[in-house]
Amino acid sequence: MSNMTDTPVLACRALGKTFKQGDYQVRVLDNIDFAIRRGERVAIVGASGSGKSTLLHLLGGLDTPTTGSVTLLGEDFATLSETRRGELRNHSLGFVYQFHHLLPEFSALDNVAMPLMIRREKRAVAVEKAQAILERVGLGKRVVHRPGELSGGERQRVAIAALLAQDTPLLLLDEPANALDLAHQVAVTSLMARLCREEGRTVVSVGHDLNLAWSGASHALLLNGDGSWHAGPTAEVMRPDLLSRCLGHPIAAIAHGGRTVFLPDEGEPRATVMPVRRTP
Ligand SMILES: Nc1ncnc2c1ncn2[C@@H]1O[C@H](COP(=O)(O)OP(=O)(O)O)[C@@H](O)[C@H]1O
Ligand SMILES: [Mg+2]
Repeated sequence: MSNMTDTPVLACRALGKTFKQGDYQVRVLDNIDFAIRRGERVAIVGASGSGKSTLLHLLGGLDTPTTGSVTLLGEDFATLSETRRGELRNHSLGFVYQFHHLLPEFSALDNVAMPLMIRREKRAVAVEKAQAILERVGLGKRVVHRPGELSGGERQRVAIAALLAQDTPLLLLDEPANALDLAHQVAVTSLMARLCREEGRTVVSVGHDLNLAWSGASHALLLNGDGSWHAGPTAEVMRPDLLSRCLGHPIAAIAHGGRTVFLPDEGEPRATVMPVRRTP
């Protein structure tokens, strides 16, 4: 890890995944090539079924590609033993699944503290960290509740808190905000972005909200659903034409008060539709 600043955190080369569905072979991901560097926040954008979860699983070494490779911190998953792959995953990446998993028998506090204790943090330190991060996601008064006593959005925030409390350099999140109300979506997304900026962590997340992706991500990867894709800085790829193709619906980008707002175009635009501002 001596060369951590030069080595990409994650790199995909000619990455492809084909699933057999009945008599058909479906090429979900085709020839994806990109590298993610330390501190980058990457939004994966695509319609349902376009392969977002599949890609995230490949990036996390939880599934094997049909073609090509995934390299995490310079180590190609395919060349590693099962044990080494597990170690690398444990130390390097945290995962929030689309259908997030919490331990039902344990309190919110223990759900966040547990992974820290597994990594040999002393209980008192782990609990203190867990308490602090739960407060930052607005759950300071829910720490003794078990998952069954929390709402869907609260459970999701516990899962995110558990991830943020660990000091893994790479975070992979599959629709982390889908059960959150608007205020918490914004609060949690900006907290995550800030923590990652401050700590130089790298984030790859899947989400359906283009405005959150635009404000929280430095880079975007658009999956078009037919295997084709676009990747690059958000200002280059989150363009109405590319997004419209990717999502199969016309998307307008509207300049409003110095910001860019993405809206599905309903055919009768009331504001001027303009191309997204490009930054040098
Ligand atoms: N294990 C699997 N076997 C067969 N097909 C799968 C499997 N996992 C995903 N797929 C198919 O791959 C496509 C992409 O799935 P997924 O990555 O879950 O999409 P997304 O997360 O973008 O909604 C879908 O058509 C899905 O049916
Ligand atoms: Mg998915």
